[in-house]
Amino acid sequence: MKSVSPAELLLSPLIPHRYIAAQLRQPSGPFGRIVMTRVLNRGNAELINATVDALALSRSDAFLDLGFGGGLGLQLAAARTDGALWGVDFSADVVLAASATLRKPIAAGRLNVICADVADLPLRDGLVHAICTTNTIYFWPDPLVALRSLRRVLSEGGRLALGFSGASKMRDFGKVTTHGFTLYEPERVESLLREAGFAQVQTLAQNGKFSRGDYVCLAQ
Ligand SMILES: C[S@@+](CC[C@H](N)C(=O)[O-])C[C@H]1O[C@@H](n2cnc3c(N)ncnc32)[C@H](O)[C@@H]1O
Repeated sequence: MKSVSPAELLLSPLIPHRYIAAQLRQPSGPFGRIVMTRVLNRGNAELINATVDALALSRSDAFLDLGFGGGLGLQLAAARTDGALWGVDFSADVVLAASATLRKPIAAGRLNVICADVADLPLRDGLVHAICTTNTIYFWPDPLVALRSLRRVLSEGGRLALGFSGASKMRDFGKVTTHGFTLYEPERVESLLREAGFAQVQTLAQNGKFSRGDYVCLAQ
């Protein structure tokens, strides 16, 4: 199958904008399981790599990817830490797809994939040392509730890396991002992170071929 980048998909005149927007928010059905997971892994690879890099994982870190989509963040983390890995996504189809593509770490007892909403994580307080979440904040109805929820499951001194495309870049994608997306510039994300209780917050502007206009906010 020829792979398609999210940018190509976002700009495609052949697929209705609302449908693509809904699939980006919550991949579903065979299209979500088979097409979207591949599209996300391929097209978001630079930002996902940068977001996992920002966490500077140690071999003992327990790691969570919230809204893991195609699972690339979990694959990268699996090579960098021997700690427990958690993937949470509120799309049942994404979780189903991961149970096939990530079956080795799951079977080895290293990775748990769970279907849940960021606002109501079925994880105990202080469970993980590092959290990655990329291209998810646009879809959270209440970002403060989501960030507080993520902070709850972080251990003392744990790090959250939040990767996203800035509002200016998202507007260039045209109509798709007008359907159910909330757009953010890094200053707003930084202020939400502080309001959610993170003390140290910094933003890393991305400059890759595909990630120009993207940001990673790192918070502790
Ligand atoms: C645009 S995709 C991004 C996937 C991947 N992180 C990436 O960057 O390629 C958004 C993902 O976040 C998940 N998601 C969106 N809102 C969520 C929520 N409230 N709770 C949990 N997962 C959510 C979706 O199901 C989807 O898999």
